[in-house]
Amino acid sequence: MLNVVIIGSGNVAQHLISTFQNAANVTLVQAYARQEEKLLHLLPADKITNSFAGIKEADIYIISVTDDAIAGVSAQLPFENRLVVHTSGSVSLEQLDPKNRRGVFYPLQTFSKNKAVHFTTVPLCLESESESDYPLLEQLAKEVSHSVYSISSEQRKSLHVAAVFVSNFANHMYTLGNDICTENNIPFEILKPLIQETANKIESLPPLQAQTGPAVRNDRQTIAKHLDFLTDGNKKAIYTLLTQSIQNSNGQKL
Ligand SMILES: NC(=O)c1ccc[n+]([C@@H]2O[C@H](COP(=O)([O-])OP(=O)(O)OC[C@H]3O[C@@H](n4cnc5c(N)ncnc54)[C@H](OP(=O)(O)O)[C@@H]3O)[C@@H](O)[C@H]2O)c1
Repeated sequence: MLNVVIIGSGNVAQHLISTFQNAANVTLVQAYARQEEKLLHLLPADKITNSFAGIKEADIYIISVTDDAIAGVSAQLPFENRLVVHTSGSVSLEQLDPKNRRGVFYPLQTFSKNKAVHFTTVPLCLESESESDYPLLEQLAKEVSHSVYSISSEQRKSLHVAAVFVSNFANHMYTLGNDICTENNIPFEILKPLIQETANKIESLPPLQAQTGPAVRNDRQTIAKHLDFLTDGNKKAIYTLLTQSIQNSNGQKL
């Protein structure tokens, strides 16, 4: 049985608490929250502490607070030489206080408190400062996910940038598409099957091969008509930049 303490009460901490509570070979010993009431819907009061001094003994401590608070929180832990990991995509392992054995338990998914996620499908990116700690971290990860990777801090940095492109930027494209629909009295729902199919297609084709549209076809008249249609300078600039990027990726010129 693996004993785990979660430190934090936000989006990721709450998903981890629910997930570990349902895992067969994991005991969620306790959770730390600055404001205990934030976790009362998930845990009995005696399993929540708002004092670092009150944190109980465990095999693994998972700090899931805002990126900027990770170093400070790790420094306040009143014990040494225990395995302490954080869940950030963009904070290096060295940001954790060296008085404890350090590691990373980064779930590569987008989490919001009130949106359920099938945790078994969430890729878990693991790193441990000491090789001897890796098996324990891996054992914990495999209890809750079928998708476990060893990823260094350097790799994690690039992975996080890649994630911004495929998730945050793709979602922003949905926002712009939604704007255009709204401005023209078209329901955004009409685009949802296209969005789904675009995402599904990369299960069977590399993204470069899956690309369709006027840019990759180099349909200059259609591109010119679209640019003419777009009156908003921001959308026009994004359209032009992405068209160029698609054509560069596919070895063509605008
Ligand atoms: N959300 C995602 O999609 C996602 C995905 C992968 C990884 N991550 C990473 O997971 C971590 C947590 O992200 P999140 O989205 O769960 O954040 P969040 O919902 O904003 O929650 C942040 C938590 O940090 C606590 N906190 C902030 N400063 C603190 C301090 N000085 N001392 C103690 N607690 C403090 C907050 O406490 P209060 O509520 O009291 O303010 C809150 O519980 C981050 O490192 C993030 O990069 C997030």
